[in-house]
Amino acid sequence: MDTKLDQSENVPEEPKMESSKSKSSKRAKEEDSYSEAPKKKLPKTTPSAPEPKEIPQGAINCLLGKTFVFTGDLENLTREDAQDLVKSHGGRVTTAPSSRTSYVVVGDNPGPNKLEKIKQHNIPTLNEDELLDLIRNAPAQIETPQPTPAKGKSRASDDMEISEPTPSSSSTTPLSQLWSDKYKPRSLKELCGNKSAVDNLQKWLKAWESNLKTGFDFNSKFPAVLLAGPPGIGKTTAAHLIGKLEGYDVKEFNASDTRSKKALEMAVKTVTHNTSIKGFFQPERSETEVRKMGRTLIIMDEVDGMSAGDRGGVAELVQLIKKTQIPIICICNEKGKKLQSLTNVCQEIRFQKPRVEQVRSRIMTIASREDLKFSQPNIADEIITGANADIRQILNRLSSWKLSNDSINYNEGKALNKASEKNVILDPFDITSRLFGTSIWNNRAGNVNDKLELYYHESDILPLMIHENYLKIKPHINSNTIERDDVNPDDLEQIAILEAISKAAASISDGAMCDSMIHGSQPQWSLMPVHGIFSCVIPTYYVHGINTSGARYAFPSSLGQISRTNKYKRILREIQIHMRLKVSGDKNEIRQSYLPALFTALSQPLIEKGSDGISEVIKLMDQYYLNKDDWDAIMELSFGGDKTLKEIDKSVKAAFTKKYNSSSHPVPFLKASSVKSSKTAAASVDVPDFEDAMEVEEVAKEEEVVSDDDEDLSKDKFIKQKSNEKSNAATSTRRTSTGTKTRGGRGGGRKAVRKIK
Ligand SMILES: Nc1ncnc2c1ncn2[C@@H]1O[C@H](COP(=O)(O)OP(=O)(O)OP(=O)(O)O)[C@@H](O)[C@H]1O
Ligand SMILES: [Mg+2]
Repeated sequence: MDTKLDQSENVPEEPKMESSKSKSSKRAKEEDSYSEAPKKKLPKTTPSAPEPKEIPQGAINCLLGKTFVFTGDLENLTREDAQDLVKSHGGRVTTAPSSRTSYVVVGDNPGPNKLEKIKQHNIPTLNEDELLDLIRNAPAQIETPQPTPAKGKSRASDDMEISEPTPSSSSTTPLSQLWSDKYKPRSLKELCGNKSAVDNLQKWLKAWESNLKTGFDFNSKFPAVLLAGPPGIGKTTAAHLIGKLEGYDVKEFNASDTRSKKALEMAVKTVTHNTSIKGFFQPERSETEVRKMGRTLIIMDEVDGMSAGDRGGVAELVQLIKKTQIPIICICNEKGKKLQSLTNVCQEIRFQKPRVEQVRSRIMTIASREDLKFSQPNIADEIITGANADIRQILNRLSSWKLSNDSINYNEGKALNKASEKNVILDPFDITSRLFGTSIWNNRAGNVNDKLELYYHESDILPLMIHENYLKIKPHINSNTIERDDVNPDDLEQIAILEAISKAAASISDGAMCDSMIHGSQPQWSLMPVHGIFSCVIPTYYVHGINTSGARYAFPSSLGQISRTNKYKRILREIQIHMRLKVSGDKNEIRQSYLPALFTALSQPLIEKGSDGISEVIKLMDQYYLNKDDWDAIMELSFGGDKTLKEIDKSVKAAFTKKYNSSSHPVPFLKASSVKSSKTAAASVDVPDFEDAMEVEEVAKEEEVVSDDDEDLSKDKFIKQKSNEKSNAATSTRRTSTGTKTRGGRGGGRKAVRKIK
């Protein structure tokens, strides 16, 4: 284990810092210390001996109204920590300096473009110390009324004409109503973002009836549309609103429920009260009949859910669309391959996730209606970006926060986002791509524990996934940081890559050792974190970068290999058991010494002589007590078996099987289990009378005479054994018995018989 996990070895003891922020910067440094051999890999920005700084707790909203831009690496704080600090004191953080920027916080290696802009606009600059001083000394500011941007302010008041059921205050509405339902947009004005998509949808619906008359060409005129876009941004809402606006009676089918053809038929029947779907979708339907049906619009929601369970559903939907007499709006999140056929018959309208400023004012207004106070104006932005602009999520998160709090500050908002993130279920593929991706390693925000947390999502499968895929990654290596005198500078990168891979491999094998201890005879579950570090965190620390295979990460093939190995072991054992009378080798010897020879002898005659070789092969099989299943198994177990099987003519193979099945073959012995059961069955039978035994003996003797003449029966040892046993048992019972009919006496007699035999 050459990886130095013992942080005390690498990190000089740092004096204790009070703030959690400084802790995380410490963690970031600790991560750097994982890069073994500091002489080879010199971290660019390692501060020589950073002096710990106390992170100030400034006055409330002391940076309100000020805009900050960050450039370069700060001495103590990571960029993200510093930005959080500014935001939590009410300041705004933007990416590029402009005339409206209040300060630029400059660290080591600042961006040249930003420096130019600073000069151009004459913006005051701060270093880390000055920023901390500013926070320490700035006075508290009284909160301004909620929405900040002037545009947002005026729009918010317009927008919130939600007066229909007037959900003005939380006390008047039932608690159970979710904010996302309560504040469902009731007019197009209230819908944030995607204006052009909504316009297109409206245009399509407006033109629908005239297009029906002239006929749909599936080129520019479509009878249906497909709205695609990420969740929670108002696709379903927009479809309903436009439908109502254009005077349609909207019927929504959640496609997850109406997958199959039958279910779809039923669903449509309920819309039209027609008896058959054919009748309804018949193009020849007269215009009056169409009018009689009223103006109905069908929304097929979540059509991507349809294809998951039942492809027939999508095909059927395509058929409906081709013949439809009413407009159909299909909605999906991802239009993957499965929906390809649908895209041919639908006009596609893409919904984008709205920008922060498009959502901000609505979120703030809803919060103010619900009496949820935002301590800083930038909280809304943080929550919106944290939820990926999924408005449904945002409203749900805020409404559950409101259940126990009346206000929210910046840090709480961030924590809320983080907590909700944890509830997301990650599949092994997601986790693998996160660990192999550069973002979690570049961005120094996450510490080792965050990465270890990913391991706990899938602790069984993830190590295998890492093992399966780490060689497909081209590790991200900064060749400038490698110093080696003994190699050609051109080879430096290649060598660094190989070194990274070898370290990852070493760590994976350490992880495998932990795994065997965890799952060993004395399970040591306390090793789980160590296992996670060795099997997942360290390998991906060394090897993360670009997935060169270009494809999705592969599922561990070792799982498949294990089951195949077990199967091979099983069939090899069968073969060995069958051959035991002839051959005394164990499983391995059979596999290595006998099977190659048998393979040729059992297949070549069929290839070379065709049907004439069949009897030769069967004879050999009988000699070794191999049955047809064993023949198949030998072909499967041998190298090149597949190829050989192809060489055997199909008709020969069929004739071989037929001939084998039609003739009888020697059976080496009965399985131990069946002998046992017959024994126990015999034991459970009542002990025969002495006279009975005599009779059996006589019958057996007769049988013996017959069997002596019969070649085949003589081969069958079991039959002979049984009759002998019975007769001898009777004789010996007579000899040894004291006259009492006991089980013990009979059993003893049996033993004697065996010995004689
Ligand atoms: N653009 C928006 N403007 C205002 N509110 C919105 C918007 N988008 C979503 N919402 C809120 O989120 C809720 C859910 O929206 P909707 O059902 O339309 O999302 P969707 O895009 O259909 O999502 P999904 O893909 O998950 O079906 C709405 O009831 C509304 O409260
Ligand atoms: Mg929806």
